[in-house]
Amino acid sequence: MPTTANAKRKILVTSALPYANGSIHLGHLLEYIQTDIWVRFQKSRGHDCYYVCADDAHGTAIMLRAEQEGVTPEQLIARVSEEHQADFARFGVAFDNYHSTHSEENRLHSERIYTALRDAGHIATRDIEQMYDPVKGLFLADRFIKGTCPKCKTPDQYGDNCEACSATYTPAELIDPVSAISGATPEVRSSTHYFFKLPDFEAFLKQWIQGGHVQPQIANKLQEWFESGLNEWDISRDAPYFGFEIPDAPGKYFYVWLDAPIGYLASFQNLCDREGIDFDSYWKKDSEAEVYHFIGKDIVYFHALFWPAMLEGAGLRTPTGVHCHGFVTVNGAKMSKSRGTFIKAGTYAEYLNPEYLRYYFAAKLTSGVDDLDLNLEDFTYRVNSDLVGKVVNIASRCAGFVKKLGDGTLSVDCAEPDLVQRFIDAGEAIAEDYDSREFGRGMRRIMELADEANTYIAEKEPWVLAKQEGREQEVLDICSVGINLFRQLMVYLAPVVPKMAEDARAFLNLESLDWQSREAVLKGHTINKFKPLMTRIERDKIDAMIEASKEDLAEEKKLKETPRGPLTDNPIAEEIAFEDFAKVDLRIVRIAKAEYVEGADKLLKLTLDLGGETRTVFSGIRSAYAPEALEGMLTVMVANLAPRKMRFGVSEGMVLAAGNGDGIYLLEPHSGVEPGNRVT
Ligand code: MSP
Ligand code: ZN
Repeated sequence: MPTTANAKRKILVTSALPYANGSIHLGHLLEYIQTDIWVRFQKSRGHDCYYVCADDAHGTAIMLRAEQEGVTPEQLIARVSEEHQADFARFGVAFDNYHSTHSEENRLHSERIYTALRDAGHIATRDIEQMYDPVKGLFLADRFIKGTCPKCKTPDQYGDNCEACSATYTPAELIDPVSAISGATPEVRSSTHYFFKLPDFEAFLKQWIQGGHVQPQIANKLQEWFESGLNEWDISRDAPYFGFEIPDAPGKYFYVWLDAPIGYLASFQNLCDREGIDFDSYWKKDSEAEVYHFIGKDIVYFHALFWPAMLEGAGLRTPTGVHCHGFVTVNGAKMSKSRGTFIKAGTYAEYLNPEYLRYYFAAKLTSGVDDLDLNLEDFTYRVNSDLVGKVVNIASRCAGFVKKLGDGTLSVDCAEPDLVQRFIDAGEAIAEDYDSREFGRGMRRIMELADEANTYIAEKEPWVLAKQEGREQEVLDICSVGINLFRQLMVYLAPVVPKMAEDARAFLNLESLDWQSREAVLKGHTINKFKPLMTRIERDKIDAMIEASKEDLAEEKKLKETPRGPLTDNPIAEEIAFEDFAKVDLRIVRIAKAEYVEGADKLLKLTLDLGGETRTVFSGIRSAYAPEALEGMLTVMVANLAPRKMRFGVSEGMVLAAGNGDGIYLLEPHSGVEPGNRVT
């Protein structure tokens, strides 16, 4: 538990591990930004605080996605991990370590925890019956089975609930069930599964939950779950599965959610090994270190029941706190692909400064689990009015006079020691807000101070005095106070807007903006030239981002809907006349250059040489090729296709590719032809 502010704390912090088969979007970012702010604050206070995360790389979804793209799961997760880390870096989310659940450290810790649980009698086995896809040769989770709702008879519903009438049922009750993967009719098969005996931990968990480790709203929710009774948890899956094989059970794999939270340990282990940190001092049973998990409200069951029980059963320490947040909505509704409000991190960052979002989330976050609405009007107004209008304004009003009248050096005496001291003292309450995750309250306090600073300057009117003879010192004194107040505000805002704070630190010519550093008032101190620290949000950038998000969706759809499989599941299209075919101008081209496209997971940008003419084409073949491998290769293009404007640029044609369902590959001509030759 947190001790007094001055004692140095040992803190380990995690965010939930994002799945390795999808892009980071603004919903995810709420969590990583919330955690990052909290961690930056703890570091600013001088505590030993480590922030670790990883990609959640296992499971059927990732296995199938890789298959669909024609790559190995390892290739898929390596690519996604790179993308995730690039997205996080752009949003200033500064992990001390980013790892993967598909790692040796995770295998080791998973085996160790499983073995400890088994040896203590907390693992049971029994046979269960499940739907099986005889074509694909795999057991089907409920969401991979579709059929007609047994209640309202709506077709094409998923295996566990009906979107039309909300009925819940088991896949066996569906009328005419089919495998969503192969379309085959599933059969019922039996196999042995391994279970974690969660009910063994009922008494422990009840006590743990009373111990203040979760928010009150979450404790209530858990209470309901206790009342409906705890069940044993199925932790095994049959081959084929992308994951870790269970040590004493060949052909059986740990269910992805078994090794996912153990990924927290694995990532930390990886950090400890690299930096010589003592792992056990954080994870042994009586550890004095604090461990916090930041998660979304959809994964409480895993983090507040299974996870503490697993740790307890394996003889390890349990979390100090599980900090749960609500979901992001945009303009009052669930993020929607068709409305363009399902916004990927990469798309946002192409149009808007990530620190706008960090500030907006901070301004609206509480320690509770309510959903957070990103209202784009309010977002624009808040950021422009608070960060630009209030905070940056103080520095920009004062910096010029300090430059002109003091040659960049602040007054030797502070003209308003009481005012500056009040700003310093306010740091205690703001620190309390940060520590208790009441970021919104903290931001309000900071903006009240900013208002005060602006009022002070407005009342003193240095720009009026500056026009009067002999009042230069007075003007410099006022502006030196202003700069001191601005400095206090930047110390308080630094965890939220680290990039802006870094620029402010350089402007203020200070070593650091750590919490403690604010106590030394700046007197006779020389500052640097002022550069605008943040500009206003422009409405057209937001509109462009929404449009681009709609395009992301269109691109995904196009790639999904172009059938490329064999003749049997992709029959030959309607007959056409020769003249129709002759309209298509197919040419041999040489790939002069191939590049990745920032923010597009499926595309490569190709520069094509037609023998005298150059074209740019965006092609959805990224999963099959490394760009370097393509350069110099000959292929075939449709040269007279109408150009298509895409977010990344204009695509001037199309290259020909085919697939066998496992991947997409370019066509290559036989020898003897050269760029520009017509294909007939
Ligand atoms: N892989 C699991 C977590 C394993 S942790 C041992 C997972 N991944 S996720 O990619 O689906 O989500 C990662 C985190 O982002 C979760 O905490 C989830 O709650 C959060 N969010 C995903 N969408 C969100 C919103 N729209 N809004 C807020 N948080 C959201 O779950
Ligand atoms: Zn129904």
